Amino acid sequence: MILSPLLSALADLTAAEPRPEALTTARLLRAAAETDFPPQPASSLSPGILHAAALPDAHPAARLVGEAHTWLPWQDSPAAALQPTALRAIKSIVTLLGPGAPIPSHTHLFGLFYQAPGSYYPLHAHEAAETYILLAGSAEWQAADRRFPLSAGGSSHHPPNLPHAMRAGPEGFLALWRWSGDIAFDSYRMLPDPQA
Ligand SMILES: [Fe+2]
Repeated sequence: MILSPLLSALADLTAAEPRPEALTTARLLRAAAETDFPPQPASSLSPGILHAAALPDAHPAARLVGEAHTWLPWQDSPAAALQPTALRAIKSIVTLLGPGAPIPSHTHLFGLFYQAPGSYYPLHAHEAAETYILLAGSAEWQAADRRFPLSAGGSSHHPPNLPHAMRAGPEGFLALWRWSGDIAFDSYRMLPDPQA
């Protein structure tokens, strides 16, 4: 299946981020518009993902995520082996672009992220620079000492090694995520978190 409407919408959102690495990611997504995505098995979180994608106040790109659901490889986080087992049940990730992803890149990572209603992803950090942009639902975000709400269209940028954590709102949330810089997972680590 060709998912060019979704890739184009995600590229537009990414290109709006005022960073050169975001523009590079958007260009890679646009160049891969004709990538053929094979059908994928559903994730245990698929009902929640589809629910969030259909929320009336979601970003228009979220509807495209819902329509493309059958062809998106929703999986454990690439960092799952470095996380507590309980964390695997609360989130699901699609890696669209990166080493070994449907759209190959050895320098950038890009994908989709879903976190289940009311769940908490405790403080963690990594060497890669990261940006999340919410597509649907809501979250309470923490980036270093700053705590703030995010809803569809909102974003959070994390420079290398900045501690961050997310508590999903009552409908969960759906987001796009982007990594650049050192995109290896070796530096990924959970941090002590009194909220956990
Ligand atoms: Fe992160």
